[in-house]
Amino acid sequence: MRKQFFLVLVGLLLFSVPLLAQDGSKDAIMGTAHDFSNAGNLTNYGITFTGQNAPQVCALCHIPHADMSNQSPAKTLLWNHQIPAATTYKVYSSPSLKAAPTALNTGNATQLGSEAFYSLACLSCHDGSTAIAAVYRTPDNTALTGTNNMTNLPIGDGPQHLIGQGGDLSQSHPVNFTYDAALVAADTGIWDVGNALNVAVLGTSMVKSVRPTLTVDANGALQQPLLFNNTVQCASCHNPHNDNNADYLRTPVVNSQLCFKCHSTSPTYN
Ligand code: HEC
Ligand code: HEC
Ligand code: HEC
Ligand code: HEC
Repeated sequence: MRKQFFLVLVGLLLFSVPLLAQDGSKDAIMGTAHDFSNAGNLTNYGITFTGQNAPQVCALCHIPHADMSNQSPAKTLLWNHQIPAATTYKVYSSPSLKAAPTALNTGNATQLGSEAFYSLACLSCHDGSTAIAAVYRTPDNTALTGTNNMTNLPIGDGPQHLIGQGGDLSQSHPVNFTYDAALVAADTGIWDVGNALNVAVLGTSMVKSVRPTLTVDANGALQQPLLFNNTVQCASCHNPHNDNNADYLRTPVVNSQLCFKCHSTSPTYN
């Protein structure tokens, strides 16, 4: 009898573990560095976020009703974190690069409303020029204050998380360039973007309507780099909502798996 009970218990546990893991992946942002409802994070970042509708996880990045007085030029993603004043980021270049990255520019209306925003959004905090708590609109009846930016967080390793500081992205993996059949033809060392096993192409719509099968991990998280309107952006490698792979990576970089998703090591490389 006891043994049977034990077996049932083990069975229940085995059954519930994957369920828990699935739940966990849905809310994979909770408790990570990007969770602005986390009291420990708020202390680390020197942020006060209190009041009737506070704290909130998403509000520093997205807000359900964006502040119309700050929508010229218009931003996408119901974006709430203040975008730095007109800044052009120096881009990566090399003699062997076939791609042609376009410099990211926070003053460019087209970029703010399109795929480039999937990089500009990250830079709004990570270039260190703007306070983490600087938003266009605070949730109703809340106090949201704090002047620290990525360079001077009271606790934590902010400076290590600086990317694009001083408007310079030249020492970062190229972003904001088209990765299409023409690039694949020009550079034999990258995988064909048409192969859904390697890269999920979002096409003209930036909504992840199609989640290819075979590409989710045991937690249900998408395991591929993504292209936004056929371009590589910060969010191609990173998913700001999911830290399961560490560093918010869409694919773990352990054994450079992430790199192999796009780069091939065929003998004909370059
Ligand atoms: C640290 C900033 C940050 C926080 C916090 C954040 N997001 Fe995002 N979110 C982004 C960025 C950047 C993108 C664009 C990149 C992408 O799609 O992966 C995005 C994209 C999205 C999208 C559109 C694309 C998609 O993945 O479906 C939705 C919907 C979204 N976020 C919802 C949320 C919700 C809901 C929360 C809170 C639970 C949240 N986000 C918290 C930064 C953030
Ligand atoms: C609202 C501000 C904000 C935005 C927008 C934002 N981040 Fe962050 N991010 C942070 C903060 C704050 C930390 C924690 C820094 C620390 O503790 O030193 C962080 C940490 C990280 C880390 C390190 C995580 C770790 O586990 O160590 C990565 C990687 C990262 N962010 C990538 C991104 C990317 C990519 C985007 C855009 C898709 C983005 N972030 C958008 C504020 C932001
Ligand atoms: C080609 C993939 C790729 C792209 C594109 C990319 N990153 Fe990363 N990023 C990584 C990897 C991999 C790491 C983990 C670092 C490591 O293991 O050395 C990382 C680490 C980080 C970190 C943590 C600090 C660090 O250096 O470890 C931040 C913050 C970050 N990225 C932000 C960004 C931002 C902002 C952009 C866009 C300007 C971006 N990333 C574009 C792959 C990428
Ligand atoms: C989303 C797909 C993607 C991922 C993931 C990715 N790359 Fe790239 N990377 C590219 C493309 C496309 C180019 C441009 C190739 C060209 O122009 O010939 C590139 C360019 C580069 C370059 C510059 C090449 C040159 O000729 O100057 C280096 C170096 C590089 N990647 C390294 C890495 C490393 C290391 C990783 C893993 C941490 C990585 N990449 C992950 C797509 C990716």
